Amino acid sequence: MSPMFVPGPVDVAAEVLAAQTRPMLPHRSKEFEAIFQRASDKSRQLFYTQYRVFLITASGSGLHEAAVRNFARRTVLSCVNGAFADRWYQTAVANGKSTDKLETPWNHPITPEVVFDALQKRHYEVLTVVHNETSTGLQNPIREIAAAAREASPSTLICVDAVSSLGGVKIEMDAWGLDMLLTSSQKCLALPPGLALAAVSDRAMTYAQAVPDRGWYFDLVLMEKHRLKDSTPATPAISLIYALDLQLERIFAEGLEQRFARHSAMAQRVQSWALDFGLDLYVPPGSRSQTVTTIDNKLEIDLAELNKFLLEQDMRIANGYGPLKDKTFRIAHMGETQMRDIERLLAAMEKFLGKK
Ligand SMILES: Cc1ncc(COP(=O)(O)O)c(C=O)c1O
Repeated sequence: MSPMFVPGPVDVAAEVLAAQTRPMLPHRSKEFEAIFQRASDKSRQLFYTQYRVFLITASGSGLHEAAVRNFARRTVLSCVNGAFADRWYQTAVANGKSTDKLETPWNHPITPEVVFDALQKRHYEVLTVVHNETSTGLQNPIREIAAAAREASPSTLICVDAVSSLGGVKIEMDAWGLDMLLTSSQKCLALPPGLALAAVSDRAMTYAQAVPDRGWYFDLVLMEKHRLKDSTPATPAISLIYALDLQLERIFAEGLEQRFARHSAMAQRVQSWALDFGLDLYVPPGSRSQTVTTIDNKLEIDLAELNKFLLEQDMRIANGYGPLKDKTFRIAHMGETQMRDIERLLAAMEKFLGKK
């Protein structure tokens, strides 16, 4: 494995890659349905939910669309403090929903107070919020936001993007009162891209039944009918389901709490390394991501040169995202990455920076 410290797609363990090479099964066969059911059932532990988990052949963005199409006849409140949150807002607008943006600067968390105020001013069917903003390395306080939303507007459905955190950070869907919690395969789950997973509450499923024009591919009511028969309306990415089935076993063998602690320790190490090195972190303390760290490029490091140097040693990091390109750079610490990989990266970075 050549460690990729980029926030997805991340490295995939060789045995998980190999699981994809198993022969195909017809998706409407008993053999495949058994694997599908097992993978979907086991996934509920990752989401800390008693509700259903949909396994959908799409990338995570597809589920941004699913959320607004299934749960909003009209009104959406979109919390935006980063590029992926903004994509969700754009998706709601592109689907014709009456969407308000609740915006804060990209290096500030969305606070429960602003959500509470916005939901008191106007009724929204859906609230969208990103847990871990990969573009900035900021983690929003979802538990507190969800509590505030429930208090201000009990019927609003709370939809959370955990694309770059689920499986690396503990997010308790049921205990926190979330209605939809979505993720993609290629981040903390350390699978190849192409699979999106979403846990959905019963009340959200009931609401969806009365929402018109849900579309077809991401119609969760249709998907639920098939899911109850351990199947999907369209052909699923069978190889990815094989890989998920195995990867969940590997994740549980590590232990969820241990996995979260590993992510947190790596985040701590990278963040204190940067500060000790005299670099600044883009996100203030208290809101820093456990899975990806964004560092201000105040030394004006030539990031292309840095990556060239790192690639000679089979490593790479990520440039800043969108408007933060070259002004920041990002080090991901998620999925299969271990502390020893982080140490190797930091040593190489020190060597490069020392050369300058
Ligand atoms: C927080 C977040 N949300 C959504 C997405 C979009 O996910 P996908 O690329 O799987 O469509 C990404 C991708 O990086 C992301 O980081």
